[in-house]
Amino acid sequence: MSRSDTQVERTRLRDRMVGGLRAEDHGASQRLAGWVHRRRDLGGLVFVDLRDRSGLVQLSFGPAWTEPESLALAHELGHEDVVLVEGTVERRPEGARNQEIATGDVEVRAVRLQRLSDAVTPAIPVYQSAGEPLPAEELRLQHRVLDLRREELQRNLILRHKLVIAARNYFDGLGFLEVETPMLTKATPEGARDYLVPSRVHKGEFYALPQSPQLYKQTLMISGFDRYFQIARCFRDEDLRADRQPEFTQIDVEASFVEPDDILGWMEGLVVALSQVAGLEAVRPFPRISWADSMERYGSDRPDLRFSLEISDWTKATADVDFGIIRSQVAAGGRVRGLRLPGGARLSRKEIESIEAEAKAAGALGLLWAKRTAEGLSGTLGKFISGTQADALGLGAGDLVVAAAGADKVTSPALAAARMAAAKVLGLTPEREHAWLWVTEFPVFVEEDGVLVAAHHPFVMPHKDDVHLLESNPLAVRGTAYDLVYNGTEFGSGSIRIHLPDLQRRALRVLGLKDEEIDTKFGFLLGALAAGAPPHGGIALGLDRIVQRFTGSGSLRDVIAFPKTTAARALFEGAPTQAGSAELEALGLEVTVGRKRGS
Ligand code: AMO
Repeated sequence: MSRSDTQVERTRLRDRMVGGLRAEDHGASQRLAGWVHRRRDLGGLVFVDLRDRSGLVQLSFGPAWTEPESLALAHELGHEDVVLVEGTVERRPEGARNQEIATGDVEVRAVRLQRLSDAVTPAIPVYQSAGEPLPAEELRLQHRVLDLRREELQRNLILRHKLVIAARNYFDGLGFLEVETPMLTKATPEGARDYLVPSRVHKGEFYALPQSPQLYKQTLMISGFDRYFQIARCFRDEDLRADRQPEFTQIDVEASFVEPDDILGWMEGLVVALSQVAGLEAVRPFPRISWADSMERYGSDRPDLRFSLEISDWTKATADVDFGIIRSQVAAGGRVRGLRLPGGARLSRKEIESIEAEAKAAGALGLLWAKRTAEGLSGTLGKFISGTQADALGLGAGDLVVAAAGADKVTSPALAAARMAAAKVLGLTPEREHAWLWVTEFPVFVEEDGVLVAAHHPFVMPHKDDVHLLESNPLAVRGTAYDLVYNGTEFGSGSIRIHLPDLQRRALRVLGLKDEEIDTKFGFLLGALAAGAPPHGGIALGLDRIVQRFTGSGSLRDVIAFPKTTAARALFEGAPTQAGSAELEALGLEVTVGRKRGS
């Protein structure tokens, strides 16, 4: 246990935090301070739960031991008042112990009480009794000052702190140096929009907030820093989802003279160290699977391997099934793939349709399904297949298969969604609690709306066997890129980088950039690479996601002190806001949309 849990040094105002008080402290006279969490007024006696970040302790006020003025004040205390108390720690009698709090063996008999701060009635309750729901999240975010007093959020932020400290110590131990990189910078392509900051001095010009420190960390390698890390703040103006914030933190890493195995090994060590801090288990080495394999077997580049359910290719097995959708999709070059769900025949039509709904939400037109029971075969596909054809799908008695026919880019995400939905509907028990996984050899390029874009960023070193395909078949080029996946969440992403300026230029040209554009946007990188660049590579882990999963929090917002809503608003302080005319003028800007009258 570290000091951040229960103890900090005494200050001029108080002797200690309250959470560490135990029976051994019986008889000690203490000055304690904190917030009035709860108060029970029994007429003669008053009980107050005093709270600080370390926990709660019960204070008792009574005429026999409390000074009269203090007792009168105790009767008046309101929720969330800030108080200073002097009293004696008393072991509670056997029957009066409170098993629910760590300090439940004692109470503090208050002699003197001082109110340091009178709190208005809290807009949202800080304390919930068992089963009482939390206030709506929007309210909680608006009143973040109160929300952050809740034990859960305090616990989350304390763990976050500890994880960061553990990461820093870990990298320091391996000779990595933490170097800060700028916030006011030039756009780094990580696939999102940039947040722009107007320059007053250079009117009409803008800095970009970093989407990641990517190009700086590469530059540091070229400058000889050899091993870099940073707990780095990143900014991305993208459509927000539950696992994304516009402003988030990476554990960012880069090293020179490395191959993927070096980075993966270090990161596994980091994960073990962080897991220990969080009291979770992580067993090295983590399994590895290539991107192509992962898409084939799980339909996803971040499969949740707590369940081993795998996708099968049934194109051959269904070749002679006389079913229009199958025939037309296969004729168009598609495949028939699906999941065998042992015991799934017990699912109702409604339950099967709930699996299908997830597949549809992921882009499929629908799912085909077949059940085998004592009565025979049934289902949208079951009606069309014979017993032998069912055998070919591995459809045994009591089982269910769900299948999708079409192009892989449609069926993979659909089956990935069906896989997780099926695990839930079937009530499958996870085969392991912590499924760590490396997905390797991601493609360097992908097609989006007919346009070739970097799958990740354009600095990924192509697999050595695929460099010759750069111009002729870029979509087939595998990258020396790897993702760290935990229970179906992408925790991190990295690669070996291109360290040769000519190759970097080729990769940028493949993306359709003209030389002039390349020089304007990436001239500084190409210049740096030309200055003598070591082979290098790295990775960045999403700290917020790690803390979220490690604390079992439902949202990233529960592990960030002052998060944004999904509409990218900061509700507590109220941001973004409109700028005043004078400010805009100084920046040489004119706003043409969304201005309120008179502002
Ligand atoms: P990437 O863009 O994959 O890689 O980001 C790395 C990790 O950062 C986390 N992450 C986010 N977390 C919260 N909110 C977001 N909006 C968000 N976006 C990303 C994820 C992700 O895996 N420069 C490269 C890394 C490298 O190649 O070294 C990069 O930023 O957990």
